[in-house]
Amino acid sequence: MKQIGNKSFIQLIGLMVGLLALITALVGVIGLVLFLAYSGVRLDVASPDDSQVLAAASVPAPKVTALEDPVGMWKAPDWKSVDAEPNADEIKYGRELIANTAAYLGPNGSVRKISNGLNCQNCHLNAGTAPLGNNYGAVAATYPKIRARSGQSEDIPKRINDCFERSLNGKPLERNSTEMKAMVAYMEWLGKDVPKGEKPKGAGIYAVPLLDRAADPVRGKTVYENQCQSCHQADGQGIAKPDGSGYTYPPLWGDHSYNSGAGLYRLSRFAGYVRANMPLGATYENPLISDEDAWDVAAYVNSLERPSKDLAGDWPDISKKPMDHPFGPYSDGFSEEQHKYGPFKPIVEAKASGQ
Ligand code: HEC
Ligand code: HEC
Repeated sequence: MKQIGNKSFIQLIGLMVGLLALITALVGVIGLVLFLAYSGVRLDVASPDDSQVLAAASVPAPKVTALEDPVGMWKAPDWKSVDAEPNADEIKYGRELIANTAAYLGPNGSVRKISNGLNCQNCHLNAGTAPLGNNYGAVAATYPKIRARSGQSEDIPKRINDCFERSLNGKPLERNSTEMKAMVAYMEWLGKDVPKGEKPKGAGIYAVPLLDRAADPVRGKTVYENQCQSCHQADGQGIAKPDGSGYTYPPLWGDHSYNSGAGLYRLSRFAGYVRANMPLGATYENPLISDEDAWDVAAYVNSLERPSKDLAGDWPDISKKPMDHPFGPYSDGFSEEQHKYGPFKPIVEAKASGQ
């Protein structure tokens, strides 16, 4: 008993000493603030000259780099839960086709030879499940829909074939083929929890803030050399897998890349994809390049040669062309050059004001 009493007495003393120290510190801080205030030292804005001193004196605040708040981001259903579905095998085949498209449908495809060797997954990361990695989170809930590019109602197979004919510079897949049905089944399963008509947060591609200037291919070349070339190579042709079933690093321009009708040929799509996902390893939570670098490297890559597609049937209503559709005619007075590289703000503003 006595021992216990002694112990709590010592604890009490300790507590009091601690409190005293705290009060002393507080008084000190208040005193210092008062002193600084009265002695005319500016506490409000740190001038550029002060910043070095401040940086050295204080612990740096954690850098906020995430492009969007992760709260509420769309997530794919748990892959293991797919076995509970009556068409589990079809869904699994669909995912396999998205991930390894070239092996089945590429230039040496085992099922059909209808596309250029890219995998859907090269652009729709993690089989179309990565937040802001051009995922398929919105597909089941938002198709069929009227698309201004075709001026028609498009269902999922039509949209998939858009990517075959443009992003994979190939031929369309038969609508009633096993492969088409499997890919549709996979996308419907991915989006099964998204309410009809809704585009979930993090679906698709990140919208990079617009620059006040045109994107600069010359500056973009330097970005490319420093940040991209190690994988995609100096000639932009990437590195093919030795067995011919696609690429370790996919090509970014030239004969084997996406054609001039593809989504990535629009600067905002390319910049948004890259800003949140490249160099490999970047995510929207940990992006690795700046807005400017993303726009400029997009300008560099899309200034180089690639297959062209006849786009005569696109955009039957030219006033619906997006700001960065790089081919005229347009309903506004801006040039093809400006629609390709920007500056985009004047185009967006003119449209908003109904010109
Ligand atoms: C070279 C890059 C690339 C490849 C390869 C590619 N796509 Fe796409 N895909 C895009 C881009 C860019 C978009 C438009 C995204 C946007 O504007 O938000 C898109 C859009 C889509 C959409 C519509 C998504 C939506 O929410 O509206 C579907 C479905 C789709 N792709 C399926 C496929 C399939 C299936 C394949 C493989 C056969 C494929 N894509 C290959 C780049 C690509
Ligand atoms: C460390 C290697 C690496 C670096 C560095 C890298 N990438 Fe990629 N990139 C890849 C891989 C791998 C893929 C395909 C991803 C997949 O299939 O999961 C890819 C895909 C792409 C795609 C879509 C597919 C295509 O061929 O069109 C684009 C566009 C792209 N990268 C642009 C860039 C840009 C721009 C940079 C520099 C800012 C860059 N990448 C840096 C490895 C890299």
